[in-house]
Amino acid sequence: MITPIFIKKLIIHLISLPHYCFRLLTSEISIVSRMSVVVFQFFPFVPYKWLFSIGHKNYPQYHYSVFHAANLARQLNYKAISVFEFGCARGKGLLALEQISKKVKRELNIDVQVYGFDTGEGLPNPKGYKDLTYHWKKGDFRMNKSKLIFKSSTLVLGNIDDTKTDFFSKHKPAPVGAIFFDFDYYSSTKSGMDLLTHKEIN
Ligand SMILES: C[S@@+](CC[C@H](N)C(=O)[O-])C[C@H]1O[C@@H](n2cnc3c(N)ncnc32)[C@H](O)[C@@H]1O
Repeated sequence: MITPIFIKKLIIHLISLPHYCFRLLTSEISIVSRMSVVVFQFFPFVPYKWLFSIGHKNYPQYHYSVFHAANLARQLNYKAISVFEFGCARGKGLLALEQISKKVKRELNIDVQVYGFDTGEGLPNPKGYKDLTYHWKKGDFRMNKSKLIFKSSTLVLGNIDDTKTDFFSKHKPAPVGAIFFDFDYYSSTKSGMDLLTHKEIN
């Protein structure tokens, strides 16, 4: 039914329309930039590096970090690097990393081993107010393990407090090129950072 409130909302939206259009065309994730990514990625002569520098549509921060880590590895004559994702939830980031590792291998001939760390059961119990207990709760971001089929990445399941202890001896990863922190909790992030001081990284 056409009510006065409906008409008021319609008028507000109509007045805001030019502003929305301007933002869509000029923002960092503008339509122009998105369309150019979609169009250009079908042309093999467009350099991969350029594609993500103009805002590759999927996880550009992952593309950027893995590409530059692999580039450095090549200059150091390494054959492979590993990249970690701390917190995988439904696996979107990990699947993106699998795609990226394929592209990097093609472009730079460096193997990228992908490791994902997650409880598999969603967020664990928070460990204090710094874990923002008013915002997150135990079980958020539960993983649907049966739906996830990873082709090349390794999922390290369990609480990072436990899995970090024997990760290096168990998996023997290639030199670590990049770590993506997405644990949400302060306590989990801090715990994951212990891996940075492991002798295998240094
Ligand atoms: C925001 S989600 C990750 C989203 C994912 N990176 C993506 O791009 O789709 C956070 C994840 O961190 C995991 N997590 C949080 N604390 C953890 C801990 N102590 N050990 C293992 N996994 C943890 C949770 O299980 C949850 O799936």
